[in-house]
Parts: sequence; C-alpha cells; structure tokens
Amino acid sequence: MKVLTVGGGGREHAAVEAFHRSGSEIFAVMKNANPGIIKRSKAYKLIDEKNIKEVCDFAKKNCVEIAFIGPEAPLEVGLADALESIGIKCASPTKNAARIETSKTFMRELLEKYKINGNLGFASFDNAKDTENYIKGVKYDIVVKPVGLTGGKGVKVQGEHLHSFDDIMQYVNEIFDNNIGGAGVIIEEKAVGEEYTQMVFCDGSSITAMPLVQDHKRAYEGDVGPNTGGMGSYTDADHLLPFVTENESKISLNIIQQIVDALRKEGCTYRGPMYGQFMLTINGPKLIEINARFGDPEAMNVLPILETSFTDVCEAMASGTLKKNVKFSKKATVCKYVVPEGYGVRSKAGLPISVDEEDIKKCGATVFYANVDIVDNKLVTGTSRSVGVVGMGESIEEAESNCENALKYVNGEAITVRHDIGKRELVQKRVDHMKALRKER
Ligand code: AMP
Ligand code: GLY
Repeated sequence: MKVLTVGGGGREHAAVEAFHRSGSEIFAVMKNANPGIIKRSKAYKLIDEKNIKEVCDFAKKNCVEIAFIGPEAPLEVGLADALESIGIKCASPTKNAARIETSKTFMRELLEKYKINGNLGFASFDNAKDTENYIKGVKYDIVVKPVGLTGGKGVKVQGEHLHSFDDIMQYVNEIFDNNIGGAGVIIEEKAVGEEYTQMVFCDGSSITAMPLVQDHKRAYEGDVGPNTGGMGSYTDADHLLPFVTENESKISLNIIQQIVDALRKEGCTYRGPMYGQFMLTINGPKLIEINARFGDPEAMNVLPILETSFTDVCEAMASGTLKKNVKFSKKATVCKYVVPEGYGVRSKAGLPISVDEEDIKKCGATVFYANVDIVDNKLVTGTSRSVGVVGMGESIEEAESNCENALKYVNGEAITVRHDIGKRELVQKRVDHMKALRKER
C-alpha cells in the first residue's frame, strides 16, 4: 500500500519503520532531512508540515492511498480533513477531533459534560486579572498551563517550578503577555502520584490497547528541571508497569473509551492513535492530558514490538474496522533520547552528530533519528531531541543495559542523555513512591 507519512521526528521514523516492515511504500513529508525516514522512502519532500496545499499536492502526485500524520501541529490546522476531502483515507484525526489535544479546556469540559471519571479541578481564563482572583481562592496546589499547544514545554507545577504566589502570577502574566499557546490559561488541580502513558488505536468506536509506557518529562536526571517533550521511556515485558496493576490499567482504558464515545456523540468521531497521560494517585488514575497522536518517545517503545501489520492497523483505524487482536511481543524496552545540551531551556544546535546503526543493532537495540538535519552532507543536531536509542530485552534491566551499550555508538558535540531512565534505582523509586502513597491512605 502507498502510505503518506507526515513528520520528521523519532516518532515518525518509528512509524515509517513499522510501515516498511509491513510492506508499504512510503512517501514522506517533513521539515528536516531525517535520514532514517529518507532511507525508507520511495519519495520525500522537505516542506512545512502545516502547508496543507503542498502536502496534498505531494500526496496526489504520488497516488497515496492512506495517510499517517505524526505531530499535532498539522492536525490542528486540519491536514487530515484536507486529505480526506481529496479522497485519501487518514489514520489520524480531523481538526475537530484533535481538539481533545489542541485545547486543554475542550478536553476538561468534555470529561465534565459526560461525567467521565479521572477529571481534575480546573478553570480557564482569557485574562490575568480573573486568573489572579481565582488563584487567590483556590483550595489545592495547582498547575499552570497555556490552553493551546506548546510542544509539551508550557506546563509549570506548584511546588516544583512555582514556589510562591508571585512565581505563579509571573508565569500567568508571561503566558498572556507572550500569547504562549495562543488560547489563554488553564489552572488545574495538581495530581500527586506516578505518571504513565496509555496509548490506544482507535477507529471511531473501538479501541485496542498498546503496552503501558512511562515517559520522563523533566530535563535532568533525578526528575528535576524544566518540562520537555520527553527525555526517554520504558515498557515492561508484561505490558503493564511495575507500579500499575491490571485493574488500574483497565480503569484508564475505560476513561479513554468514554472519551472516544463522547467525541463521537459530539459529532467529531476520532480515528487514529490516541494517547492518554495519567497520574496514578491514591484515588486511582487521573487524566493529565490526551494527545491526538502517538507519544514521542513512547511510539519508539511500542512500534518496534508491534507484531501485527502496522499498515493493516492504520487501514482499520481509517475505515472503522479495528479488531481487538492487535499483538505486541512480550518484550521490555528502554528508550533514551540523545538531546542537544541546553534542551528545554536553550539548545546548542547545529553541531555534528554521528550514529553507527550497525553497532547499535549488535547491542540488541535500534536507533530512531529525530530532530537532526543533513547540512553539507553531514548530520547535525537541531534545537529539539536528536536521536532515540531503544534497547530491547526480556526485562527492563536487560533492555536498559542494551540501550546503554548502544548509546556508545552515538557521538557528537554538546549532546547529553538522561542515563537514569530505566535504571533499576529509578524504577524502584517509582514503585516505592506508589507504595508509600498507598500506605498513607
Ligand atoms: P502535559 O504537557 O499536560 O502532559 O504536562 C507536562 C507534565 O506536567 C506532565 O507530564 C506532568 O508531569 C505535569 N502535569 C501536567 N498537569 C498536571 C496536573 N494536573 N497535576 C500534576 N502534574 C501535572
Ligand atoms: N511524550 C509526551 C508527548 O508525546 O507529548
């Protein structure tokens, strides 16, 4: 099948590899020259992924049959709607359905309207004065977020990034003054616990679960520093996580199913992968956010262990015929992102980076190129995450060790990695944290 892929990051490279394994011909559009995607593509074009006309022209010219849109920005401008209007099926949601990610207020209000469990206290504002009045009266610790998209970097948490009323108001004013996210401020109740990602495939009505993943959003080792798009992530061989029970996983799947049903009832049927970010609290899983796409890095954990044909799954999502028997191999995975120094604050970008794919493979790992580019025939870093290295194994420990061995074969100037991700100590810290919270109860 001829597939259009949109996006040039690690998540899209992982999707391209999965399409390639299932025998598809790949036609790719992306902003940056991702060598992993280029290697697998029959044709590709370097363009702005939000340029609907150019993407549609490329798709038409190459007679693609189905499209997969990786990042959120082209979803927000209606690329799926435009492709569908020229007869190309999409395994990604329309603009209206993608509001579940592009507007945090839409998501919270939908949960409220349909009385879906897992919601948190929230209020949205279009000016700083009303926000200030609300914050003065609020009874719980809060999280300050721009309502619109910020690439995962716009969230500040009381007690972690914000330590006083002045800190909070300074950030609220910054969001309004700089129009960050473009749609005002949402104040949310702070949820306390351990985070995990539950992704599903969705065909408008049915959902099929992917293995649970834990991402690491903070920039630095020990879970400190600014929020980022995600520094790395792991899955366990049983597809749960060491601190999440099967019952808790079922509760989160039930929340996602109700969201999918609510979107259909609202007239914006959702098709494509859906991403649920949950906080496991002493009162059960609470919803942190929904994304209208695969997570990045989470896609790099789950797609390499997908046994079912990814092309078939996408075709089924696009045409409303998803079956429950989507299979993943019983392997643990650990992904660590190599990022430019300063990522999350001010990246040192445009510097050479080298990757030895063959040696990485020999370590029981695989590599996905992300925000890199080819300049004068040389691979260089961009301002965002550069290369994802994914180790696989029978256990998290084995996968982590394979990942670390493979990381030796990524070299460059001014690059850094969160080496603590997937290590026994950090995983145990999560387990102990949940145990302590449960005991407090
Ligand atoms: P988001 O971009 O909404 O996923 O937020 C980025 C990160 O901020 C999340 O992964 C959490 O670690 C944290 N966060 C966001 N919302 C909340 C919340 N309501 N309570 C606690 N932490 C949150
Ligand atoms: N890993 C977080 C995200 O994809 O938004």
